[in-house]
Amino acid sequence: MTRNPIAAFDHRTGFKLGAPVGFKDYMWEALKDPAAGINMIQTAENLAKKYSISREDVDAFASESFAKAVAAQQSGFLAGEIVPVITEKFELEGYKPRGIKLQGKVTEVTQDTHPRISPADVLAKLRPVYEGGVQTGGNSSALVDAAAACVVTSGAYAKAKGKKPMARVVAAAVAGVPPEIMGIGPAPAIRLLLARTGLKLSDIGRFEINEAQGAQTLAVGRELGLDLSLLNVNGGAIALGHPLAATGVRLTITLARELARSGKRYGISSACVGGGQGIALLIENPNA
Ligand SMILES: CC(C)(COP(=O)(O)OP(=O)(O)OC[C@H]1O[C@@H](n2cnc3c(N)ncnc32)[C@H](O)[C@@H]1OP(=O)(O)O)[C@@H](O)C(=O)NCCC(=O)NCCS
Repeated sequence: MTRNPIAAFDHRTGFKLGAPVGFKDYMWEALKDPAAGINMIQTAENLAKKYSISREDVDAFASESFAKAVAAQQSGFLAGEIVPVITEKFELEGYKPRGIKLQGKVTEVTQDTHPRISPADVLAKLRPVYEGGVQTGGNSSALVDAAAACVVTSGAYAKAKGKKPMARVVAAAVAGVPPEIMGIGPAPAIRLLLARTGLKLSDIGRFEINEAQGAQTLAVGRELGLDLSLLNVNGGAIALGHPLAATGVRLTITLARELARSGKRYGISSACVGGGQGIALLIENPNA
């Protein structure tokens, strides 16, 4: 996310003398919906109004997300899914060496850097992104760097290779919603997923729903009538960050590990999608 380029799209065919030279910020492009003419924070503000979610509600939720993430770091739970990033070189004969060079005196990064204890009264002091709005830099997903990977294969292949799966992917669902309230997407996606699998909300032991913005996740919770004690029990994106394109795998791996830890059978990971979608995945703990 911090390496998102700021690029000029118009120069390939040359500039006319005196014409404005336009640069675009890829990060901003990713967070803005040109169809609805608003950005992602504004979509959360729309949900806050629709579901009567106050700044206090959002800060309290964010404060808990930070506390749960710090606890999960301290207990060592989160370290179990993190590959430390270290300064290192990769060499292969016949090719130029490549590598990772961390900045300054840092030689390794072993855990997420955004979580910190954040009491609600501290979060309450932060300026809202929009005057009169509920979203701030402290109760929205943080813009952080990360990559995530996992192996998805058939049960037969895993068995033949003697691999023990972390989870079984049972079903997936995608739903469309109006772009100006894109953050509600997980609600219809989860409903569709349950309808497809014949399960009830009460059959699901854990939920990992991406905390794109605090009001957005609370709106999904209210729409579905979710028991929030089953949601993001090791912290969410407000504390850990939401690195675009890594988050889906991160949510599902955390969920699989949390199902193993708690002995619960079913879990749902879900995220809203800018532009007006929700996506949800049902996984099953093979040992429950
Ligand atoms: C909300 C958002 C606009 C804030 O961006 P920003 O202004 O660059 O955020 P910052 O990290 O500078 O945080 C703002 C302030 O809050 C403070 N802050 C953030 N988290 C805090 C915490 N837990 N405790 C105390 N202060 C905190 C920062 O220190 C900063 O203070 P400063 O202004 O005194 O330096 C941006 O994070 C965002 O857009 N997030 C959501 C992304 C998104 O929507 N993704 C989903 C796509 S579907």
